[in-house]
Amino acid sequence: MIIAPSLLASDHTRFGREVERASRSGADWLHLDIMDGHFVPNISFGPEVVRAVRPLSKLFFDVHLMCSKPDILLEPFAKGGADQITIHVELGEAVAPLIWKIKSLGKKVGLAVNPPTPIATVQPYLAMIDCLLVMTVNPGFGGQSFIYETLPKIQQADIWRRELKLAYRVEVDGGINHQTAGECAAAGADTFVSGTTLFKAPNLRAAVKKMRKAVNEHDPALADLAITEHRPDHPQLAL
Ligand code: DX5
Ligand code: ZN
Repeated sequence: MIIAPSLLASDHTRFGREVERASRSGADWLHLDIMDGHFVPNISFGPEVVRAVRPLSKLFFDVHLMCSKPDILLEPFAKGGADQITIHVELGEAVAPLIWKIKSLGKKVGLAVNPPTPIATVQPYLAMIDCLLVMTVNPGFGGQSFIYETLPKIQQADIWRRELKLAYRVEVDGGINHQTAGECAAAGADTFVSGTTLFKAPNLRAAVKKMRKAVNEHDPALADLAITEHRPDHPQLAL
């Protein structure tokens, strides 16, 4: 399993320290939410922030682009230190060329699907991606409540993965707490983004550990899954 604290919920007056705190927390990835004020009604931060914090951490940087025109942003984020770049399936015809461009930059590819968008829209791309991000809230803000109607989409994503013998990760993002992480694991998710629950906890390390335990209780098989995506200079983590 992968636990990915979302930097959006960290203390924005001290991004550097917060990235270091996440690095020491026992988490596997750092999730970085990029919002453009157009695809979603909020603005977060850009490639310069990613570049600035990159030297502070060896965590895998999972960059989630909630942007209408990601084409112009792929190279800056790749150069800034993203390990995986996720775009949204709602971009329609732009999706396939964006996937190929992310691949050509040597980065892992994520594809996200919003709660109101049918899961069938991701089907044509499944063989091309490393990670399928099932949004469990409407994107734009941290701290929202988990939308339970998204659970069947997680199940479908996992069913396709097994039927098609593909290896993409099934990632969930939005309203993930210790309870909903377990429920998502039971539905087939293996990668858990969590902002408020982890960064606002009194002890980030303890919160990560508790989330890992909650996931294991729902799906012990995930405990045996080693991380395959790791930075070259980062020791393989045994989970
Ligand atoms: C929502 C973002 C999420 C957000 C999750 O638009 O994509 O990554 O940071 O925050 P929580 O865990 O607080 O719902
Ligand atoms: Zn996100």
